[in-house]
Amino acid sequence: MRFQSSLSALTLAVAVEAAAVEPRATTTTTSTSSTTTGPNWFQTTPELYAGTTETGSAPFLAETNPVTFTGVSYTPNYPLQTSEPIQGANGQNIFHWMGNLSPYYPSVDGFGVEEYPLPSGTNITQMHLLQRHGSRYPSSSEGLATWGEKIMNLTAKGTKFTDNLAFLNDWSYGLGLEILVARGRQELFDSGILNWYNYGKLYNSSSSHKLVARTTTEDRMLKSAENFLAGFFGLDWTEYANLLPIIEEVGYNNSLIGMYACDKALEWEESSLMMEPIEEWMETYLKDITATLKKQAGGYDWTVADSYDAQALCAYETVSFGYSPFCELFDFAHWKDYSYLIDIEFAVMSGFASPAGRAQGIAWVEEFLARVQGHLLTVTDTDANMTLDTNEVTFPTDQTLYFDFAHDASIVSTLTAFGFEQFAGSLPVTGPPADQEFFTSKIVPFAGRINIEIIRAPHKVPAKRPTGSQAEAYVAGTSETYYVHFLLNQRTLPLHSSFTGCEYRDDGWCELDTFLAIQKDSLAQSQFDYACNGNYTFTSYGTVTNGVPA
Ligand SMILES: *[C@@H]1O[C@H](CO)[C@@H](O)[C@H](O)[C@H]1NC(C)=O
Ligand SMILES: *[C@@H]1O[C@H](CO)[C@@H](O)[C@H](O)[C@H]1NC(C)=O
Ligand SMILES: *[C@@H]1O[C@H](CO)[C@@H](O)[C@H](O)[C@H]1NC(C)=O
Ligand SMILES: *[C@@H]1O[C@H](CO)[C@@H](O)[C@H](O)[C@H]1NC(C)=O
Ligand SMILES: *[C@@H]1O[C@H](CO)[C@@H](O)[C@H](O)[C@H]1NC(C)=O
Ligand SMILES: *[C@@H]1O[C@H](CO)[C@@H](O)[C@H](O)[C@H]1NC(C)=O
Repeated sequence: MRFQSSLSALTLAVAVEAAAVEPRATTTTTSTSSTTTGPNWFQTTPELYAGTTETGSAPFLAETNPVTFTGVSYTPNYPLQTSEPIQGANGQNIFHWMGNLSPYYPSVDGFGVEEYPLPSGTNITQMHLLQRHGSRYPSSSEGLATWGEKIMNLTAKGTKFTDNLAFLNDWSYGLGLEILVARGRQELFDSGILNWYNYGKLYNSSSSHKLVARTTTEDRMLKSAENFLAGFFGLDWTEYANLLPIIEEVGYNNSLIGMYACDKALEWEESSLMMEPIEEWMETYLKDITATLKKQAGGYDWTVADSYDAQALCAYETVSFGYSPFCELFDFAHWKDYSYLIDIEFAVMSGFASPAGRAQGIAWVEEFLARVQGHLLTVTDTDANMTLDTNEVTFPTDQTLYFDFAHDASIVSTLTAFGFEQFAGSLPVTGPPADQEFFTSKIVPFAGRINIEIIRAPHKVPAKRPTGSQAEAYVAGTSETYYVHFLLNQRTLPLHSSFTGCEYRDDGWCELDTFLAIQKDSLAQSQFDYACNGNYTFTSYGTVTNGVPA
């Protein structure tokens, strides 16, 4: 029960803070003029349903940066100072082991296949992006501000922390809530630039309408999209794109945050059954370090929940202020274990271990399938917003580029709804399995993203890809063939690893027709109506393995 506060914090990491948001009065002011009459779909200012927007203390890294660390040569901050020595790291980076709180980094190891060039004469005809927002302050539900106040109360009343915790004697809490930090703006701007280099030529400058990009109304989501578009097009992006903010609030249909129109998903996230495996693993991996820190707490009864909050503060202070003294309290193994806690959390909340894992992500899957096939959304048993998705103005189906912005939980659910069973392996509460593939830090770091390419080849491309020259890289006597290629944080997601219908290919692609045939079953498999509204009882961790009720 002690964890309840820090853990609903967990539920946290998402957006579950159904903070009562007062929709502001609508006005006719717009930043992006649309060419339509009727509703102004593309209003971005003033913001509606922006959620909590609390700013924190300004950083002053020039003053707070320790600059050098014992045994580490000088490393200029870039812009964060992350060169503090961590016991047991041996050159590994703890910021790659912070689950969904890892600042963006490309997935260096990949997901099981190498990368291959396109054979000459083959073209990418569409790219669909599902992009997470950037680094942010904690969610309201995480309770970190209360933790900070507690520590400041202790020191004000004379508690003297010692040894590694001595820095707390002069420490004060200064984080805001929910909104992007500067690093988060940078991550999205950088992603816009990266996507421009990768896909700029796909932008159709002779299109009859501006490109429609979609995000949610939440402040960090809106601003993530704007920073991305500024990176992709430049500061005059409103000349090229209309941004559609879809209402993010409990009870509203929104494919970019499917949980808000899925009652059972919301109920599950509040349930002690969902919390059980998370609490159990937390108690296990933080037991010893908690005993050590307790001795340095000047008589205060330092608990496992305090150790967990201290780890979260390392992640948040680093992206907010550029450096955090909390990081060095823990050794490298504690960071791997912390990341594993977040892996369990997302599997059970949004992934294959959640009874509504598929249901929460199916709306975006169906939207993707509709766009690939060039028609408005026709299926109704999802929680996509049908007002928007049956209108070509708000759901154009003739674009070559689709930019959608979403949350960590939505991206995990979307992968689940597609059926990426590569990530369905069980995550025991006793610790990480040797064959673990579901790593939230590799899948949904801040600004994590899925790029889905549709590829047209004049002939079939052989499953066994030649290295070097791709000039002769076609199967003789075959005709034009389309492929689909998924990239997750800049590495290929091999489709054969999750879909038995997709043949093994070196490049991890799948023939588009085959993939579309496989996806015909996804909607039924999600059991959307039953999973979100059914009268079923929740079952304990381990009983749900396919993202639907046990
Ligand atoms: C397809 O790709 C080739 C290069 O392989 C390029 O020359 C050609 O212009 C592209 N076609 C289209 C329609 O983009
Ligand atoms: C901190 O101290 C103030 C004043 O005594 C009190 O009102 C507040 O509840 C305390 N906060 C916490 C988190 O303990
Ligand atoms: C670009 O837009 C024009 C006008 O709407 C359309 O005719 C053309 O097919 C589009 N090009 C592509 C590659 O989609
Ligand atoms: C769908 O979106 C429109 C436009 O924002 C909004 O007015 C409507 O309430 C939404 N419908 C649902 C069911 O969320
Ligand atoms: C909203 O989603 C529900 C399913 O949760 C669906 O039945 C309904 O048609 C949707 N309404 C709109 C306007 O999108
Ligand atoms: C839900 O199921 C339980 C157990 O089967 C039953 O007692 C209850 O009446 C059902 N509730 C509704 C609203 O159908």
